[in-house]
Amino acid sequence: MKAVVVPRPLPVTDPGCFADAELDDPAPGPRDLLVAVEAVSVNPLDCKQRLVASRVAGRARVLGYDAAGTVRAVGAAVTLFAPGDRVYYAGDVRRDGCNSQLHLVDERIAGRMPASLDFAAAAALPLTAITAWESLFDRLRVAAPPRAQPRKSLLVVGGAGGVGSIAIQLGAKVAGLDVIATASRPASAAWCRELGAAAVVDHAGDLVAAVRGLGRRQVDHVLITNDAARHFGACAQLLAPQGGICSIIRADAPVDVSALMGKSCSVSWEFMFTRPANDTADMVEQHHLLNEVARLVDQGIVRATATDVRAPISAATLRAAHAQVEAGRSIGKIVLSGWA
Ligand SMILES: NC(=O)c1ccc[n+]([C@@H]2O[C@H](COP(=O)([O-])OP(=O)(O)OC[C@H]3O[C@@H](n4cnc5c(N)ncnc54)[C@H](OP(=O)(O)O)[C@@H]3O)[C@@H](O)[C@H]2O)c1
Repeated sequence: MKAVVVPRPLPVTDPGCFADAELDDPAPGPRDLLVAVEAVSVNPLDCKQRLVASRVAGRARVLGYDAAGTVRAVGAAVTLFAPGDRVYYAGDVRRDGCNSQLHLVDERIAGRMPASLDFAAAAALPLTAITAWESLFDRLRVAAPPRAQPRKSLLVVGGAGGVGSIAIQLGAKVAGLDVIATASRPASAAWCRELGAAAVVDHAGDLVAAVRGLGRRQVDHVLITNDAARHFGACAQLLAPQGGICSIIRADAPVDVSALMGKSCSVSWEFMFTRPANDTADMVEQHHLLNEVARLVDQGIVRATATDVRAPISAATLRAAHAQVEAGRSIGKIVLSGWA
């Protein structure tokens, strides 16, 4: 099969940071789906992994943690899917990624692809949907419908990015929250509003003053997707008593978590590979949530977030996509589709 590999860790400016390769077809384990990959999406995680990628089992590493494709074959213990099914999934960071024509994924972390989307649009969704869903509903314990009364609020820091683009929609359209997003440019601010944010504030300025300037004294939930060390203090200040902050990134400097004690607020972390990477007993929850997101997409409640689709999937296109993601200014998601 064709695949794109990382020969050794190199900056994206180096044309050798990816290589096109021919690899042996993989064989499914008992709970695996063998998927014919049609489209993949690039996340900041891919860029971080590229810079530390080492050889595995004597060969160069394959990255890629967002795929859409068709089930070609299934392992002996598979019950959730059959050959021919269209699936979308992020996968497991311990295993080879999806930048290959054929790919293995445990059925418990794959979902049925939204019927209303093509492969490219579907590939943009899974990693960010899992992250946003788990952040809101598992970590922050936002009340899913029936909606919480009185109406609660959510601040999404980094609203136009991949994760923010889904979190705004789940918060506003599924949980009925008053969503305030942060964005620093007219285009990213407009995108946040399109997705359902009631208000947008600039994360380059004073967040506390900006949110209070909207007439909101405090917020009930905060999701931090970017620059946690810088934004944590302001978010803690804005948080309502008994509210919660969830961060999907490490703080690269110490943050004062104990400042939240007087308000009995919670601080949580979300890492979307926790379930698959630890074989947790509830890892099938990712199958269920991806199916639920597909239903929301097919009903027109959640919209697709792919903003840039390129072809084919190759070393050259992946390098260009990594360069774009590394710039840190993405609006929505970048997708690569098809094989040359
Ligand atoms: N823990 C997990 O499971 C998990 C899952 C997914 C992603 N992540 C991590 O979470 C981060 C975000 O992922 P993503 O896919 O959403 O990234 P992304 O799509 O690359 O995010 C781009 C967005 O970040 C915003 N941004 C840039 N600098 C910012 C700042 N200083 N403060 C606030 N926002 C800023 C930009 O908005 P403007 O252009 O408007 O400034 C842009 O729209 C990455 O570090 C990623 O590795 C973690």
